[in-house]
Amino acid sequence: MHIKAPSVVATIFFASEAYALPKAPEWWEPKSWKPPTQHRFRNAELGPRPQYLVTDMDEGWLKSQLAACSDVEARPSRFSIGHRGGACLQFPEETRESVEAGTRMGAGILECDVAFTSDRELVCRHDQCDLHTTTNIVATELGSKCTTPFTPASDNAPASAKCCTSDITLAEFKSLCGKMDGFNVSATTPEDFLHGTPSWRTDLYATCGTVLSHKEFLQLVDSHSRDFTTELKQPRVPMPFDGDYTQEKYAQQVIEEYRAARIDPSRVWLQSFSFADVAYWLHADPAFGRQAVLLDQSGDFPGSFPAAVANLSFYKDAGVQIVAPPLSYLVALGKDGEYVPSTYATTARKLGLKILTWSLERSGPLAQAAAAGDYYYSTIANGTHKDGDMYRLVDVLARQVGVQGIFSDWSATVTYYANCFKLF
Ligand SMILES: *[C@@H]1O[C@H](CO)[C@@H](O)[C@H](O)[C@H]1NC(C)=O
Ligand SMILES: *[C@@H]1O[C@H](CO)[C@@H](O)[C@H](O)[C@H]1NC(C)=O
Ligand SMILES: *[C@@H]1O[C@H](CO)[C@@H](O)[C@H](O)[C@H]1NC(C)=O
Repeated sequence: MHIKAPSVVATIFFASEAYALPKAPEWWEPKSWKPPTQHRFRNAELGPRPQYLVTDMDEGWLKSQLAACSDVEARPSRFSIGHRGGACLQFPEETRESVEAGTRMGAGILECDVAFTSDRELVCRHDQCDLHTTTNIVATELGSKCTTPFTPASDNAPASAKCCTSDITLAEFKSLCGKMDGFNVSATTPEDFLHGTPSWRTDLYATCGTVLSHKEFLQLVDSHSRDFTTELKQPRVPMPFDGDYTQEKYAQQVIEEYRAARIDPSRVWLQSFSFADVAYWLHADPAFGRQAVLLDQSGDFPGSFPAAVANLSFYKDAGVQIVAPPLSYLVALGKDGEYVPSTYATTARKLGLKILTWSLERSGPLAQAAAAGDYYYSTIANGTHKDGDMYRLVDVLARQVGVQGIFSDWSATVTYYANCFKLF
């Protein structure tokens, strides 16, 4: 193979700081050239992963059906909900880059989880106090402002830090770099603390993820004509914060930002794990409340699942229209190891509740995940053996449970299924 010449050229090209830009061709007329006005991603680009999963499936009707769709030109679908931006399997979560990639992979609805800063601005972060694992804050000057600054690992304790959006202002937040979620328990320096990405994710795109305010998120998603889901994260500081910033003001601020951006409520799904937040939206602003989503993990404690199922009628009576439990609540194993709808799923359907669920593509390789007791596959672990099983799960959720959408860390996986079965 004659690879020598090109590699030499590449070395020179990258090594020289002051290389000249390539000359434009003769026909190039900068004055007459206009950038394309249409910036939207009209089609979805799904990449190789859906095909990889389909190939890994057991032979049968579903595999044939999905394989037959491999040449379908994909369109965005609201059945595909971009979790933490929609690409956080490989891109830093809650960043512009994750949203852009999720959008490109056809997520019809993109997610921003909101937390507030010390100057009461809303920013996209999955937890008010996760800056030490999702950004480079401990290795910057802002590290000293953290609730708990970086403490190196010692003989008897792991390395630690606790940094919250409420420790800093919006301007300070915007100076941070988003990175893959994780940290190094043995770190003795702040720089070493930043490393901790699981091997099945990647740091390839974690060069400096662009962190977003909620307002910037709205503008970004609107520019692509996609829809929105904002989750109000639980405060990690006592409320009211800073004197008079109450939970209601916090919940209302999300709506105010949508109104200021002139986004129609029909394009917005607000979410919270707190029934009080959802009840607030239902009563304070029914246009937004109508599509508010109650996130439910009340069946997590051992023995609490039956009570979670029983409580669905309480939510229905209170006016909640959409519930969103984790994947594991909606499925169980049938007697031949097949996936079947759970009592939670059948009860919610009987009550007329709409269902969303979270989160696909969060578990890494499935055989490994199921064996290790992964949260999302906990109820079907004994029937889960390989990555191809993911589409069996999506299929049961879509066609038997009847979910309206699936949050995914890699939007292409759900978009592919949605296009194959025409769920838009
Ligand atoms: C974790 O921190 C320790 C101590 O600072 C360091 O030796 C090690 O290389 C770090 N691990 C990674 C993956 O950076
Ligand atoms: C049902 O949910 C409501 C609101 O979250 C809660 O107050 C109540 O305790 C729950 N009931 C049961 C039986 O879990
Ligand atoms: C899976 O199978 C093992 C061994 O047969 C059993 O102990 C366990 O309870 C099963 N788990 C579930 C969730 O059914």
